[in-house]
Amino acid sequence: MELNNTSALVTGGASGLGEATVRALAARGARVVVVDLNAERGEAVAASVQGVFASCDVTDPAQVIAAIDAATALAPLWSVVNCAGIAWAQRTVGKDGEYASAHDLDVYRKVIEVNLIGTFNVCRLAATAMSHNTPDDDGGRGALVNTASVAAQDGQIGQVAYSSSKGGIVGLTLPLARDLSAVGVRANCILPGLIDTPIYGFAPESEEFKARLASGVLFPHRLGQPSEFASLAVELLANSYMNAACVRLDAGVRLPPK
Ligand SMILES: NC(=O)c1ccc[n+]([C@@H]2O[C@H](COP(=O)([O-])OP(=O)(O)OC[C@H]3O[C@@H](n4cnc5c(N)ncnc54)[C@H](O)[C@@H]3O)[C@@H](O)[C@H]2O)c1
Repeated sequence: MELNNTSALVTGGASGLGEATVRALAARGARVVVVDLNAERGEAVAASVQGVFASCDVTDPAQVIAAIDAATALAPLWSVVNCAGIAWAQRTVGKDGEYASAHDLDVYRKVIEVNLIGTFNVCRLAATAMSHNTPDDDGGRGALVNTASVAAQDGQIGQVAYSSSKGGIVGLTLPLARDLSAVGVRANCILPGLIDTPIYGFAPESEEFKARLASGVLFPHRLGQPSEFASLAVELLANSYMNAACVRLDAGVRLPPK
């Protein structure tokens, strides 16, 4: 699939995996809309690639449509990479055994809302816009890449909300690809392992935590780089024979219970 002279939407594009993907898509000739809640970082990333920033909560349909409109105003929208997401850690049952300390249900709902519902919201609306594209030789009209996590398959203690949200993203991949085959839009999913991004924070303890994580990686013995994620995301978009796939990008890591 041709990326040059098309537009692309990257949610969570102000940071980490999304930011690296914005840069990789721009390097392939796509006009990129950076979709994020973080206006300061989002504006800066967009400006650095002659792109556009769209201040947008991925769970809000009107804001997502406005971001899609910003993309189609640049060029036909052929690519979407969903990276917006939040992490949360809490055990299901509290240490004191009281009902009040059971996993916060509002937090559980929030993680599902942003990670799962936000991802699907962008997919349904972007694919609708793509369905109006003039098809390529395959009848293709665009492609979507969603970001799950290895926690969809090996969620750790305290990851019940996050893993549920990411498991949902894995689960929707095949039916989404099947639905969208009617309009020539492909859908794939990446399950990243441990990638070095701001999601781990910047405190001295974050560095220790990341070093501990890296020690469990099969090979190479390090965290992944955001550019390694971006490279795979671009390949899943550009390679017209990739569809309905869920690909682990994890250097062989299998997360233990904790
Ligand atoms: N870094 C890792 O090791 C890793 C591993 C597996 C999966 N992931 C997933 O990859 C994705 C990107 O993670 P990252 O490490 O780059 O994190 P990050 O925190 O660096 O970036 C996430 C971005 O999403 C944005 N965002 C959050 N909620 C949003 C919303 N409602 N609407 C719009 N934007 C919103 C944030 O402002 C931020 O810029 C997430 O979905 C995360 O769960 C990351």
